Amino acid sequence: MKIYVDDGSTSIKVKWDGEEGVEKKIAVPTTFKRGWKADFGNSNIVNYDIDGEKYSFDRHDSTALNTNNIEWQYSAANTIAIHHALLKTGIEPKTIDIVVTLPLSEYYDTNKQVNKENVQRKKSGLMRRVSNSKETQMFKLNSITVRPESIPAGFEILSEMDINQSLLIVDIGGTTLDISQISGQMTDVINIYGDPHTGVSLITEEAKNALIEAKTYASNHMADLFIINRKNHDFFDKNINIPAKIQRVKETIESANRRLNERIINSIRQFKGYSHVMVIGGGSELISQAIKDFCNVRHDRFFVSSHPQFDLVNGLFTMG
Ligand SMILES: Nc1ncnc2c1ncn2[C@@H]1O[C@H](COP(=O)(O)OP(=O)(O)OP(=O)(O)O)[C@@H](O)[C@H]1O
Ligand SMILES: [Mg+2]
Repeated sequence: MKIYVDDGSTSIKVKWDGEEGVEKKIAVPTTFKRGWKADFGNSNIVNYDIDGEKYSFDRHDSTALNTNNIEWQYSAANTIAIHHALLKTGIEPKTIDIVVTLPLSEYYDTNKQVNKENVQRKKSGLMRRVSNSKETQMFKLNSITVRPESIPAGFEILSEMDINQSLLIVDIGGTTLDISQISGQMTDVINIYGDPHTGVSLITEEAKNALIEAKTYASNHMADLFIINRKNHDFFDKNINIPAKIQRVKETIESANRRLNERIINSIRQFKGYSHVMVIGGGSELISQAIKDFCNVRHDRFFVSSHPQFDLVNGLFTMG
């Protein structure tokens, strides 16, 4: 069995062929902390061990490990996050083949060639043995394929394009901005750009600080929920401890979002000559309008899907 995994830094997206050929997919947050936590006696597995180090899944703890850095891609916590997401599929643990991703800036070297060292490093990291506190069976990884982020998401559109045309794919995730320009029929990678420091986490960090001022100590995941629900006043009212600070938190999110938009548009300026544009990743909703206005391609050549967070894993799945 082959399972497709877009192991992003904020959430792991998994897609597979379910029973009777029904495609299935899930997204699981990457919020882990060091050490084990109390077990409530239900069937959920939350405590893991890797190379003698203990970690637990905790969606709400503000001391959760920081995944917003590139080293996380190769870390023990990344391996555990993938295994945890695999268990969440409900598939009975067995030996599987797996496809995972690396950000463009890690997958390619400065000469735009595949960085074999990084690919190998990713594979070796994933081969580490993981066990859990309930001593139940875990998935075993047989073959591991590493693919670049963003490019596979354009697979279907590119296959319908002419070789003289090109597609700009802008992937805005939790931590990284990946931009690639690929020619029709996937004949050429024209240009790539990866910025490991520009992602929704720029807003997350500022939101967390504003929330602290409101005596609300949020994990990254919780702060992200404030960003996603930025237009939902009820959510703010329910989850912020000092009501007088609600407006301040909202304004902080809006101004951080404007700065994020500016940075992304600046990065797009170096790309020229594309005929089609696709915006993917969880941050799409925050930036797609600005990108559409800036790139100014034909209306029917601008793509944002209804579930942009899953575009990459969908592409991995289609590529096989
Ligand atoms: N509707 C939404 N509005 C705003 N932000 C959103 C929305 N949905 C998801 N996000 C944000 O998108 C981010 C997750 O996106 P995604 O899953 O693409 O990131 P990732 O792949 O884990 O990160 P990366 O690619 O940088 O490693 C989170 O920060 C989340 O808060
Ligand atoms: Mg991603």
